[in-house]
Amino acid sequence: MIPITRLSVGEAEATAAADAVRSGWLSTGKRVQQFESMVADYVGAKHAIATNSCTTALHLALIAAGVKPGDEVICPSFSFIATANAVLYAGATPVFVDIAPDTFNISPALVEAAITPRTSAILPVSQIGLAADIPAVMSIARRHGLKVVEDAAPSLGTRIGEARIGNLSDFTCFSFDPRKILTTGEGGMITTNDDEAAERLRLMRAHSASVSATARHATNDVILENYPEIGYNYKMTDIQGAIGIAQMGRIDEIIEERRRLADRYNTLLNDDERIQLPYEPPGYRHVFQSYCIRLLTKKPQVAVMSDLAKQDIASRRILAIHSEPLYQKSRFDFLLPETERASKETILLPMFVGLTDAEQDEVVQGLRKALD
Ligand SMILES: Cc1ncc(COP(=O)(O)O)c(C=O)c1O
Repeated sequence: MIPITRLSVGEAEATAAADAVRSGWLSTGKRVQQFESMVADYVGAKHAIATNSCTTALHLALIAAGVKPGDEVICPSFSFIATANAVLYAGATPVFVDIAPDTFNISPALVEAAITPRTSAILPVSQIGLAADIPAVMSIARRHGLKVVEDAAPSLGTRIGEARIGNLSDFTCFSFDPRKILTTGEGGMITTNDDEAAERLRLMRAHSASVSATARHATNDVILENYPEIGYNYKMTDIQGAIGIAQMGRIDEIIEERRRLADRYNTLLNDDERIQLPYEPPGYRHVFQSYCIRLLTKKPQVAVMSDLAKQDIASRRILAIHSEPLYQKSRFDFLLPETERASKETILLPMFVGLTDAEQDEVVQGLRKALD
């Protein structure tokens, strides 16, 4: 089977993880701190706060953005379920807005119309490796006094002009699950330039204890911590931090290779009228966490995916969250034609560092056959 992803981890990650195990400190410690600094420097943000997933990063960032029970948060439905679930965790209601058909990211023109007196934040998703139009979303948010929490789970390294996302919205959340640009097994990160919020996020991810376990461990004195607000156990371990450091060391190489593979897919598929290739808007730099094509044929997406599976080629699709049972009960009547069309017409092909030319050729031949 050609999988949708294959891990790109090797000796450097294994040695780093083993060193962490031998160090005698496994929970959040200096390796997580170093990983945080590397990500903050890389995206150009003042602060990075590591968590155990992007889902928990989103939950904390929404709280730090001031989202309270009863509020509304504007987000796209064309995403992974975790985007909207994080809004529910914060006690708020996701208000889904449609996407642009070419980028598959939230359409800023539709965001403003969805704002009500209950809206407290906008949650755009920088999907599949391409930045959403964050500058446009930010200017709407500023006009209305709203915060922007960006779900950039798949998109570490993507740029608009020279600016990397992670530095453009109030809070940006990344994922390090096995299908993302970098992986630490599971893991997440919030980047922000807000000093006060960063401090609160650091406390909230560790039960909101006023003194960290590391600080208490480092002293011979007795330090009694207190708990001023509800906190969570969303901490990243130093084993994950160590793997993250090793992965960050080759992020540019990883992104270059993903772009090369996407280019190669484009060249191989370019002449096929049954397929619409991925779009990279001028000035944007896609990092191709996924290679997403739109099928222009009448053959249903699931039939194409199952024909691919019969040829030992994995593929995936992206959800329309509002169509999932959990969200169908929503009191809103959403009109999301582009989201519904995209979730029925697009598929993701295998894309990972280590995908060989022969495998890529096989995917392309298999896809042509599935479309015949
Ligand atoms: C757009 C998006 N948001 C959130 C998540 C959740 O990330 P994690 O698995 O790190 O919680 C994912 C992961 O697949 C994602 O693709």
